[in-house]
Amino acid sequence: MDLSTKFVGINLPHPLLAGASPLADSVTRCQALEAAGIAAIVLRSLFEEQLEAEAMAHHQAEVGHPDSRGEARSYLPAVDSSVFGPEQYLTHLRAVKKSVRVPVIASLNGCSHDGWIDYARAIDAAGADALELNLYAVAADPGESGAELEDRTLRVVHAVRRAVQLPLVIKVSPFYTALTNFALRLEEAGADGIVLFNRFYEPDIDIEAREPRYHLELSESRELGLRLRWLGLLSGHVRGSLAVSGGVHTARDAIKAVLCGAAAVQLVSALLRGGLERIGGLLAELTLWLEENGYHSLQQLRGSMDQSRTPDPGAIERLQYMHSLETYRLPGPVADS
Ligand SMILES: Cc1cc2nc3c(=O)[nH]c(=O)nc-3n(C[C@H](O)[C@H](O)[C@H](O)COP(=O)(O)O)c2cc1C
Repeated sequence: MDLSTKFVGINLPHPLLAGASPLADSVTRCQALEAAGIAAIVLRSLFEEQLEAEAMAHHQAEVGHPDSRGEARSYLPAVDSSVFGPEQYLTHLRAVKKSVRVPVIASLNGCSHDGWIDYARAIDAAGADALELNLYAVAADPGESGAELEDRTLRVVHAVRRAVQLPLVIKVSPFYTALTNFALRLEEAGADGIVLFNRFYEPDIDIEAREPRYHLELSESRELGLRLRWLGLLSGHVRGSLAVSGGVHTARDAIKAVLCGAAAVQLVSALLRGGLERIGGLLAELTLWLEENGYHSLQQLRGSMDQSRTPDPGAIERLQYMHSLETYRLPGPVADS
């Protein structure tokens, strides 16, 4: 079975990638991912705050006192630098590139213009096959409109695009007012591919301590639906590649994403829960399903259920919404009363 695909110009034997996570934090684990059959590896993100922290440390070393931003920063929770600082990140990237043959995608997370561009160049020079920009930011500033936020983000993408040659992938959140339009503008700014979506970790509250609690929970397949909707809406409009991240746990999940237009499928929770042997299992299940359903290649399937041939997808979404509400039947105990 031909499972091959092309993601941001990179030919891959199949669509399963290891998404950004600690799975690729050591060279041996990257080799294990390759041995288990992964098509490409995304490294964890280096955060803008980590770059700033290093720049500030240099500044302090040079002038002997903290700059004015230092005090403000001291109120913020410490960024865990035990994982990778900027220098270590590049060293790790080079080491991984030397140790595996599969493509390696580096990841940067930031939301402002400064500080990134040189580092993106360094990632390019260190040999990454592509760069993923993880646009995780909560729009908390009441003075900034949606349009301003989008413009600011596009300026970052544009600046990175001008600085580097390598394929540029943008991992977006689902919280844009007009994502279809924004996706097209991301492409105009130089994005070669879009990953739907990064996952926001919702806060809880410890009511005794009156403190917020944040904890990371792995995903479930039910999170896929939001991705399928937007894959289906964007596929056919964007020229570049689409990838899904979030909620792919089974071969059936991956098939749904491909039907809606995904060229690549990023896995994290499935591998953290099920181990790297899940990769082989998913590939076998994918192949079996395609054979049983009369396909010769994965490519035949891709995008065949996207919304590109639907004249008014917004109207269809509304009708489906109405239908879901109207056909709901009250559960037994309530229905009887
Ligand atoms: C422990 C952990 C660390 C992660 N670190 C990153 C990261 O550094 N950068 C990033 O873009 N996403 C990161 N993610 C998010 C994943 O890449 C992915 O988008 C998310 O887990 C949804 O995919 P899944 O359903 O396959 O887990 C992380 C996820 C987990 C569980």
